[in-house]
Amino acid sequence: MKNHQRLLPYCVLVLLLILCPSLHADSPLEKKMNQMRKSFRELKKAMATPVETDKQKYLAWVADLKSATEASKTLEPEKTSKIPADQKTAFLEGYKNKMDELVDEIDSLEKAIELGKWDEAKALVGQINQLQREGHQKYRNESNEH
Ligand code: HEM
Repeated sequence: MKNHQRLLPYCVLVLLLILCPSLHADSPLEKKMNQMRKSFRELKKAMATPVETDKQKYLAWVADLKSATEASKTLEPEKTSKIPADQKTAFLEGYKNKMDELVDEIDSLEKAIELGKWDEAKALVGQINQLQREGHQKYRNESNEH
């Protein structure tokens, strides 16, 4: 019995360690990124077989993607805390520039959809995918990869 009681604190510790990942709250940037994932996923699916009559729906997803990207630009990646002090400014500048590139591509996608230029829209979705890959490689913590 005594032995069991001595084990209790260790059991509590193990339980807390198990629960920790599920207690982890999304950062403001993660929340915005999840919003981007939703609208971009819809756009990717839709651009596979686009239809003229659904244009307004596509444009609403584009607007959502753009506003979440603009909001993301004002936030700092978690990884910033691991960057040496003398490199932080360049790191954050690079991050913001990448977000600006993304906004430019999203603007082009909006125009292509408005004009019904579907081949161009598909190509732009591919380019946005590429920017996402580059952005994550450089600015996301490895522990944030899912
Ligand atoms: C359409 C393009 C993009 C989509 C759909 C997207 C989506 C996502 C998703 C789903 C996450 C995970 C969120 C979570 O852990 O709950 C994430 C994380 C992240 N993304 Fe993106 N992303 C995109 C573009 C970018 C770009 C261009 C950059 C950098 C310039 C970037 C930087 C990051 C960072 C830094 C994180 C980790 C969050 C943090 O540090 O707090 N993403 N993204």
